Amino acid sequence: MLNYETVKYFGNEQHEYQRYDRSLKGYEQAAILSQKSLSVLNLGQALTIATGLVVLMYLAAEGVVNGAMSVGDFVVANTFLIQLYTPLNFLGFVYREMKQSFIDMEQMFEMLRQDDYLPEPEDGRTFTGLSKGIAFENVHFSYQPNRPILKDVSFHIKPGQKVAFVGASGAGKSTLFRLLFRFYDVTQGKITVDGVDIREFNTDSLRQGMGVVPQDTVLFNDTIQYNIRYGDPAATDDKIIESAKQAQVASFIEHLPEGYLTRVGERGLKLSGGEKQRVAIARTLLKDPDILILDEATSALDSETEQAIQGTLEEVSKGRTTLVIAHRLSTIVQCDQIFVLDQGKIVETGTHQQLLDKKMYYYRLWVRQQEKAQLEKQLKKATQAAKLVGSSQSRSDSDSESI
Ligand SMILES: Nc1ncnc2c1ncn2[C@@H]1O[C@H](COP(=O)(O)OP(=O)(O)OP(=O)(O)O)[C@@H](O)[C@H]1O
Ligand SMILES: [Mg+2]
Repeated sequence: MLNYETVKYFGNEQHEYQRYDRSLKGYEQAAILSQKSLSVLNLGQALTIATGLVVLMYLAAEGVVNGAMSVGDFVVANTFLIQLYTPLNFLGFVYREMKQSFIDMEQMFEMLRQDDYLPEPEDGRTFTGLSKGIAFENVHFSYQPNRPILKDVSFHIKPGQKVAFVGASGAGKSTLFRLLFRFYDVTQGKITVDGVDIREFNTDSLRQGMGVVPQDTVLFNDTIQYNIRYGDPAATDDKIIESAKQAQVASFIEHLPEGYLTRVGERGLKLSGGEKQRVAIARTLLKDPDILILDEATSALDSETEQAIQGTLEEVSKGRTTLVIAHRLSTIVQCDQIFVLDQGKIVETGTHQQLLDKKMYYYRLWVRQQEKAQLEKQLKKATQAAKLVGSSQSRSDSDSESI
């Protein structure tokens, strides 16, 4: 249901109906089978009980006829049998319940095993602020055992620095940030914050100190105000408006009929990509973190809005350690350090100028982007010129008509 747009784009409604129908059929067959086996069980049970009852009653009746039992004994035998069989009738039900309980128990143990995945230290340190910096020391990482993603990554970031990570898609940039935020633990090596392994910190306090604008923004199906306030549930309305202004999204929100109380839809689908991204920036600014992590935070914006936000981001990143991933290199020229990642390894490090002088990977990337930007500029100029010519042409046409 969430992916309905893709279904429509490809006109695959029939395909989805059939898929849904197939799984419903599977369910239907399983339900029928379950009901059938239950009926067989109940029938078998009833038959056994009834046969037993008839045989015993017959024997008791014979005893009465022979004079070995009184009529009273007959009634007593009957009562005993009924008392014995009633609980036996429940046997099928109990059997089913036990089976279901075993399945539930298995699932519960599975869940408990999952919790062990990221062990939390007993008496973890509280993160209060960055004083010595962040370091990755020979970090290796893989999501699945047979596919390494990061290979021997080491770097150091001083407090207050602004650093950037660039590299091809799939190089492992977002993965670095996920590790720092401790969504996963490293496979080998360690990540330290102020010289202390992040596994020794209380995870909540560490995460409290970091603000992330992720690559794919997902919003809650609630109002814009709720979504921005998510950065700091105790924030006042004024503060929310202020961070919306900083994120260049305030004027857009104010022009909406319902303003800050506009609902954004499931996962935020009623907002455009750029609007969603700016709401995500606003909520991170509201969180006011010590370490700011921006994963292509402005990739969905046009260059003008991007420049405006870039100014704000530069402003808020002052005095804060900031880690940025950017595809548009022009946005990271000012960074203190730039790390170039390729296939999970850091292949180049330095400032923008140093990396250009090396004339290697970064240089090639830069030149390509500059060429593209140049072409776009020329195209824009040409389009404008064409428009001008077009309008003067039509004016002269209408002039000649009137003459
Ligand atoms: N949860 C996951 N499970 C398994 N593999 C994953 C997972 N997340 C990412 N990967 C793999 O890890 C590699 C690195 O992913 P990552 O998201 O870090 O790339 P990236 O450098 O941020 O790329 P992009 O510029 O496209 O965002 C990719 O090849 C991806 O397929
Ligand atoms: Mg990424």
